Amino acid sequence: MTNLFETNPFPVNNYYNEDLFCDRVRETKLLQSNALNGINTILLAERRMGKTGLLHHTFHTLPKRCSGIYVDIFATTNLKDFTNLIASAILKAFPEKNSIGKKFMLLLKSFRPVFSFDSFSGAPEVSFDFAQTKQYENSLAQLLKFLDNQNRPIIIAIDEFQQILNFPEKNVEAYLRSIIQQLKNVTFIFSGSSQHLLADMFNNVKRPFFASTQSIYLHEIDKKIYNDFIKQKFAERKRTISNEALEFVLDFTKQHTYYTQTLCNKIFGMGIKKINLVDAQHAAYELLKENETVYFQYRTLLTTNQWQLLKAIAKEDMVYQPSAKKFIYDYHLGTPANVQRSLEALLNKEMIFCRKDEKGNYYRVYDCFLGRWLAK
Ligand SMILES: Nc1ncnc2c1ncn2[C@@H]1O[C@H](COP(=O)(O)OP(=O)(O)OP(=O)(O)O)[C@@H](O)[C@H]1O
Ligand SMILES: [Mg+2]
Repeated sequence: MTNLFETNPFPVNNYYNEDLFCDRVRETKLLQSNALNGINTILLAERRMGKTGLLHHTFHTLPKRCSGIYVDIFATTNLKDFTNLIASAILKAFPEKNSIGKKFMLLLKSFRPVFSFDSFSGAPEVSFDFAQTKQYENSLAQLLKFLDNQNRPIIIAIDEFQQILNFPEKNVEAYLRSIIQQLKNVTFIFSGSSQHLLADMFNNVKRPFFASTQSIYLHEIDKKIYNDFIKQKFAERKRTISNEALEFVLDFTKQHTYYTQTLCNKIFGMGIKKINLVDAQHAAYELLKENETVYFQYRTLLTTNQWQLLKAIAKEDMVYQPSAKKFIYDYHLGTPANVQRSLEALLNKEMIFCRKDEKGNYYRVYDCFLGRWLAK
């Protein structure tokens, strides 16, 4: 049996509980109050900043009188998958022993469903086998209408929402919008990280979702708050970490949640009782070393120009003007046209991201550890 002192307080792949979740107080409140006031929300951030964690945390701390339904549509490829996933998620949220669950089962049976169990989690799953897209559209509308009639606030979080842009059916956006608009008790949180795609979907006047939702942009967790959180989690497990080590951790990982968690997880795993700067540096070094094979593979997957540009961006950390003469000259990047082409390729491959601050748009290597390794 493991005891508290030994369990690692820095999970890196799942949401566990409130105790291991740092901050996001304001965002959680906003997501909950939007949902309870009939406002749909779009949650945006770079990959691995903590969107999925925040969605789970929002549901975990929801008042008892409402229900949360979470779906991750990353692996869905069409409206059929999407409808099946929503149906299965409702089934999971309202099991048959529950009164809403009983009524839901009656509705489901009218669609002649096929029941099965997820081979990994064992959770019940349901799928429909219709011949036509229209039938999926109709059943999806009926499922949502059913939820709307249950007289309790229900929040549906759709993670990786940009995936619907890849569905082959025409007008999925318009169709979804038209169903969603008719609901009174069901609200949505759309979350995703393909920022240009999502921003376009929600802001472009010609697109159906225009102006129908409020956007929340998830930033890095506040430095002081994260600092205190990490210190406290170590202390609760009878360990101390020096201020220099903490400063190093937050700086090395640029406060990008997943990377900060990963480094803290590694440091904790070393089992040291009094953690100093050198221990934190050693853990960071080990992490980069462990990932080196993957980094070398990236190199074979990129062209020489792309690789050179990636390295240059890593060394600069943030690049505001990639076509500036000095930048191109300093890093021997060829012509501005070359740089532009490589920049677009790196953006498409999600090797770098573009973000805006008070000084303007800047580019940065997406994977924080890869960036550190390249900059060495
Ligand atoms: N507030 C938090 N406190 C502690 N750990 C967190 C917090 N938010 C996220 N994490 C951790 O960071 C990791 C990355 O977060 P998460 O998966 O939620 O990011 P994401 O933005 O959904 O990423 P992706 O775009 O790749 O899906 C998670 O494994 C989670 O354990
Ligand atoms: Mg996610």
